[in-house]
Amino acid sequence: MSDKEVALVTGAGQGIGLATVRRLLDDGFHVVMVDRNAEPLATAGQALHEAGKSVEHHALSITDRAAVATLMKALPRLDVLVNNAAIFWDGKFDAITEDDFKAMYEVNVVGTFVMAQEAVKVMKRGARIINVASRAYLAGYAHAPYITSKAGTVGLTRGMAFDLAEKGIFVNGIAPGLIETDMFRSLTPERQQELIAKQPTKTVGQPEDIANGIAFFADPRTKNVTGQILTLDGGRSMGISLY
Ligand SMILES: NC(=O)c1ccc[n+]([C@@H]2O[C@H](COP(=O)([O-])OP(=O)(O)OC[C@H]3O[C@@H](n4cnc5c(N)ncnc54)[C@H](O)[C@@H]3O)[C@@H](O)[C@H]2O)c1
Repeated sequence: MSDKEVALVTGAGQGIGLATVRRLLDDGFHVVMVDRNAEPLATAGQALHEAGKSVEHHALSITDRAAVATLMKALPRLDVLVNNAAIFWDGKFDAITEDDFKAMYEVNVVGTFVMAQEAVKVMKRGARIINVASRAYLAGYAHAPYITSKAGTVGLTRGMAFDLAEKGIFVNGIAPGLIETDMFRSLTPERQQELIAKQPTKTVGQPEDIANGIAFFADPRTKNVTGQILTLDGGRSMGISLY
């Protein structure tokens, strides 16, 4: 690990998280991969390790404060935390149960809060926290619990940025739009096409596009920016495509 900066990425076993791990490795970080889904995490982590990358992996849930605290205390240093893990499902408002609503909030907001609070205990001045929200925080059709949780992620990002500024810790967020991962592929083909048609660019983004934005906030040269949300969504936040 030598004197490399250390970045921890949650939800690192697949999708945007794994693309972010690869990007941060390329950028010279030692990367700590965290995911609750042990098998794909181990497969991805082992493959990177065998390719000579400076990486380690830990299977745990971001909502398990004791496990999170143990991991944080065991790290020699922590320069970057990428809070990427989240859950998602589509569902019309009147069909959502209270338990489902709470479960999404618990992972997407409380889990992010737990990770950040334990990370801050070991972080030093100049550290960076990047929370992955979603363009959906603005609004969207048939996923009220997800929208609520991602609006919560944005609020948490901005609140943390204020509180942690005096400690010299920068906190920013990323709001991806449609990105081609399992989360997107879990939608029906019809719903996927419906969403792509609304994009001004008529495209679905790739996990690497989001990793690129995360890498900007993770870069130690990115200073004097905190409490910002970078939207990477093919222009969808400007409105629905009119052509
Ligand atoms: N894919 C998209 O279109 C899209 C759009 C906007 C925002 N996002 C956001 O980007 C992030 C990554 O999305 P993705 O598409 O790569 O998702 P994904 O479902 O492919 O991967 C999410 C990962 O998080 C892990 N995870 C879930 N709950 C966890 C927990 N409690 N503890 C630890 N790990 C947990 C899962 O095991 C999985 O490996 C999420 O925050 C998501 O909300 C995705």
